[in-house]
Amino acid sequence: MARIRPALDPDALAEAADILRSGGLVAMPTETVYGLAANALDPRAVERIFEAKRRPGFDPLIVHLAAADELGRVARMDELPEEARRVAFGCWPGSITVVVPKGDAVSDRVTSGLPDVAVRVPDHPAALALLRAAGVPLAAPSANLFGQLSPTRAEHVADGLGDAVDLILDGGPCTHGVESTVVGFGPRLAPPGHGAVLRHGGLPMEAIIARTGVPLVEGVRVLERPLAPGQLARHYAPRTPLRLLDPNAIPTSPAPDRALLVAAGPGPDHADTTWGVVARLAPGGDLREAAHHLFATLRELDRRGLAGIDVIPCSEDGVGRALVDRLRRAAAR
Ligand code: TXA
Ligand code: MG
Repeated sequence: MARIRPALDPDALAEAADILRSGGLVAMPTETVYGLAANALDPRAVERIFEAKRRPGFDPLIVHLAAADELGRVARMDELPEEARRVAFGCWPGSITVVVPKGDAVSDRVTSGLPDVAVRVPDHPAALALLRAAGVPLAAPSANLFGQLSPTRAEHVADGLGDAVDLILDGGPCTHGVESTVVGFGPRLAPPGHGAVLRHGGLPMEAIIARTGVPLVEGVRVLERPLAPGQLARHYAPRTPLRLLDPNAIPTSPAPDRALLVAAGPGPDHADTTWGVVARLAPGGDLREAAHHLFATLRELDRRGLAGIDVIPCSEDGVGRALVDRLRRAAAR
């Protein structure tokens, strides 16, 4: 089994930084989900990420930086759209990834040959401490096997990746619990003067617009292959079949071998007498609390060997948009 050490222990951070500088893999906590990190400037280290995750090579990785003013290490600043600069400097550290023209130092392996690179500065003390200690930009996708649920606790990483990772830094449960919002910029990805949301995530698009004044549109598929695995229909999926219920047609016949997952609020009165298991992500209706519990709850339900998981989704406001997006993809067959 992979070793797990406390994320803010100075000795553990020093060991993790050494591993990264010598081409190894470290799982690190971020505010969204755990990331599987490697030196973004070392193509062989990056290759190990794809192997460990069994991730198809066409699926590009996010590069993490210690601070916004390091953007020039991985992006082409002479081609950087002004809107991208405003969003990056206005929202980092934070749960938003910008997709911008790639600099020469970044291996093509990171971007799967695409001319753009995805970059973010995570808002997590251990991730930032690790980035500073390693001294290199870190490529880090979510630390799960490809297509499976993203890890929001160190144990989830160990369960999914085992020995494929050299060290896991344990920072406790991730506060946000859904991945970053991915926004593309420039002529290949967005209309002039705009950003295009390629994946809904932790920072809602309304919040990005309010904070930066940069107008955003919903991303369109501009390449033949899916731009983001977030755009692959089936993704973030438990093994147990999952279906979204129509809130106006909630079943009432007994289903002892099924679970009901209520995304927000208490759910219907008859829930506990109808379903064998009832899980409420946020009984009080707070969507951020629901996002925080989403992946860990799906994992727990998945372990029970149920015939199915029925889901009552939440409204698509704020982070609710990312939540419903992940639930739809988990339900896709
Ligand atoms: O919150 C997060 O974003 C987490 C933490 C670890 O930072 N990372 C994460 O990485 O979710 P991953 O690899 O699971 O998702 C990266 C997303 C994918 O949807 C990927 O296709 C997209 O970013 N992406 C990366 N590079 C891209 C590029 N050059 N063009 C378009 N999309 C890109
Ligand atoms: Mg992922």
